[in-house]
This record gives sequence, structure tokens and C-alpha cells, in this order.
Amino acid sequence: MGARAAVDRRENPPPAGERRTVWQTPGAGDIARLCLRTEPLATLPVTSVRVTVRAVGLNFADIFALTGLYSATPRGAFIPGLEFAGEVSAVGGEASGFSPGDRVMGVTRFGGYASVIDCEPDYLMPLPDDWDFAQGAAWPVQSLTAWYALTRLGALRSGERVLIHSAAGGVGLQAMQLTRALGGSPVGTVGSEDKAVRLRELGFDDVLVREKNFHRQLQRTGLSFDLVLDAIGGAVQKASFAALKPMGRLVVFGAAEFTPRGKRPDYLRAAWRYLRRPRYDVMDMISSNRSVLAFNLIWLWDRKDEMQSLLAELGDVPLPPPLVGRRFPFADAHAALDFLRSGRSVGKVVLEC
Ligand SMILES: NC(=O)c1ccc[n+]([C@@H]2O[C@H](COP(=O)([O-])OP(=O)(O)OC[C@H]3O[C@@H](n4cnc5c(N)ncnc54)[C@H](OP(=O)(O)O)[C@@H]3O)[C@@H](O)[C@H]2O)c1
Repeated sequence: MGARAAVDRRENPPPAGERRTVWQTPGAGDIARLCLRTEPLATLPVTSVRVTVRAVGLNFADIFALTGLYSATPRGAFIPGLEFAGEVSAVGGEASGFSPGDRVMGVTRFGGYASVIDCEPDYLMPLPDDWDFAQGAAWPVQSLTAWYALTRLGALRSGERVLIHSAAGGVGLQAMQLTRALGGSPVGTVGSEDKAVRLRELGFDDVLVREKNFHRQLQRTGLSFDLVLDAIGGAVQKASFAALKPMGRLVVFGAAEFTPRGKRPDYLRAAWRYLRRPRYDVMDMISSNRSVLAFNLIWLWDRKDEMQSLLAELGDVPLPPPLVGRRFPFADAHAALDFLRSGRSVGKVVLEC
């Protein structure tokens, strides 16, 4: 880390001419409308910390927000992005906990694809000294998601077997690490054999390359699960529910089967999939003694205390830095989003500023 700058507790507007670079869309619908632009820096609110962003973590939610397939998508123009890492450049007069020069990682409810971010300190965390900025930008969302799914909803206990779909992705790999840390046995599924080869080296007990008839594949393996983490949906989810043991839990937090093939959603295809989505009957759940839970962590933004306690719990789990699979220059956000949307990524996709 470089030498710390003098504390700058600026409450006045920045000098004329100070600007930041952002990726902004005029509105959800077509990823192609996402444009790079510059804008003047706003006055730093007294309760906020200003961060010079060095890396931005990409999430599947960015694709769904940009195409309008995400329930929390902002109306009108918005800057996508939920997490970042960088260096504190200024601190508002009423903000505490951070000083200029600090290396931090943070979460934001949109607005992450930006070279400078003003953020309340509650949404920032110190970046571990031996992590680079890309690793920091890769950490918050996937860790909170995996931890919340495994502990709060999944109630994972030592010795239980967990099926983790999209196991090579950001959330999937973190779920594997956390399952191991909690004494569980992680079994992953992926869409291609090349991903499976990597995962077997990374610590999964077993890795399945999903076949067209996933239900039959699970029956053939004879595997059953205490907990399933699913963000794919459709037939994969249905088959996973069927493979739960009595008292098993299916935790659903995404629907990658709706991923648009192009930059715009195919509404007909999406509608067809929506109509065929799995539905669950609570009376059946009582009889078979298996349950379904679901969540969207974007709502944690308004529950700072809950988020802080999840982060504190995560801080007590010894974990290696997250795997960054691909790094793209900030200016190549479209290439990075195309790569993530292709379903070929292993580990986190990150933009570097
Ligand atoms: N609810 C929440 O709060 C929350 C928070 C964070 C993330 N999520 C969800 O968790 C999932 C993982 O997020 P992530 O950012 O870590 O992404 P990721 O797992 O790195 O990438 C998504 C993966 O989905 C799989 N996939 C399945 N069907 C696909 C399709 N039709 N097109 C493209 N990919 C497809 C691909 O892997 P395989 O083919 O190998 O399976 C792909 O790599 C996403 O669905 C995301 O929306 C939810």
C-alpha cells in the first residue's frame, strides 16, 4: 500500500473539473445501450466516504438488471454494479472508521460500474493486506449470498451433503469453501466438462456435468442431498428437489435458465420458461418432509444491522481469497458482460480501473 495522503475531510464541492467515469444505461432492456461517459464529481456527503475504484465485481444480477429481467431493476437511467474495491480518497466530516489511503472493498445497491464511488462507511470493509483489488471486488456479494443460503436459510450442519449448482461461478465456488468450513460435503454441478476438471482440483467431493435429463442422471448416481443451492431453475431445480433427503432444504436464489442469449431478452422464450417453472405444494412438502426457501439479498441494503452481522460471521471463517477467473479493463465492460453471460466463466469476472 502506498503512503497515506493527509486526511481530507472535505464537505465542500470538489474543484471544478474533477470528473468520474461511469458505465450508464438510459434504461433497462438492451445491454447494448450501456455507455461509457464522464460526469462531474458531486459534493461528497458529510456522512460518506469517497473511494477511488480499482476493481468492480461483475454479477449475474447485472445482466438481469440491464435487460430488465430483475425485479429490483431501477426505473430509468442507472449505473449497474453491486460491488467494488479501491482506495479511500476523502472522508466526509461525519463519517468515521476509514481514512484516506485505506484499501477497501464495498457493496452498493447499483452504481458500482464507476471510477469513483461515494459510500456510507457501513457498506465498506477493509481489504485484507495480501489481497489485490480484483480479489476484493470479487468477495462481498458472492460471500454474503453463499453464507446466507448455507446458514440462515439452509441451516447447514456438519456432515450434511450439499448440492451446489453452477459450482464454478462466483457464488458456487464460495459456497464450496463455506460448506467445507462448516463441515459439510460439497457436490457441484456445471454445464461443461472443462469446468469440471478445474473444480475437482479445487475441493469439491464430487462434480457432475449436468446432462439433458438431469433427473435421470441424479437417479443413476444414487446421490441424495440435505441441502441444494439452486440459481438455475426449471427442470434442474425440479430434479434437485426430488433428490432431497427427508428434512432436506432447497434454497433458490436465481434463475439462470432465463439468461438472454443476446443483449436483449427474448420475451417469448422467457414467458414459455416462466409458465413451465417448478411450483411447489406446501401440503406435499409436509408429506415428503422437504422444504423450499428463497431470497434476494438486494434487500439487505436496507437492513444494515443484518448485513453487518453476516459480515462479522464471515470474518470469523478462515477463507482463501476468492478465485478471479478473468480480468477485463474497465473500458471493456461489454466484453466482460458477454463473457459472463456466455456461461463459460470459471471464478469471478472483474473489471479493473
Ligand atoms: N438472490 C440473490 O440475492 C443472489 C445474489 C447473488 C447471486 N445470485 C444468483 O446466483 C447465481 C450465480 O451468480 P454469479 O454472479 O456467481 O454467476 P456465475 O455462477 O459466475 O455465472 C452464472 C452461471 O450460471 C450457469 N448457467 C445456467 N444456465 C445458464 C444459461 N442459460 N446461460 C448462461 N449461464 C447459465 C453457468 O454455469 P453452469 O452452466 O456451469 O452451471 C454460468 O456460469 C446467478 O443466477 C445469480 O443471479 C442471486
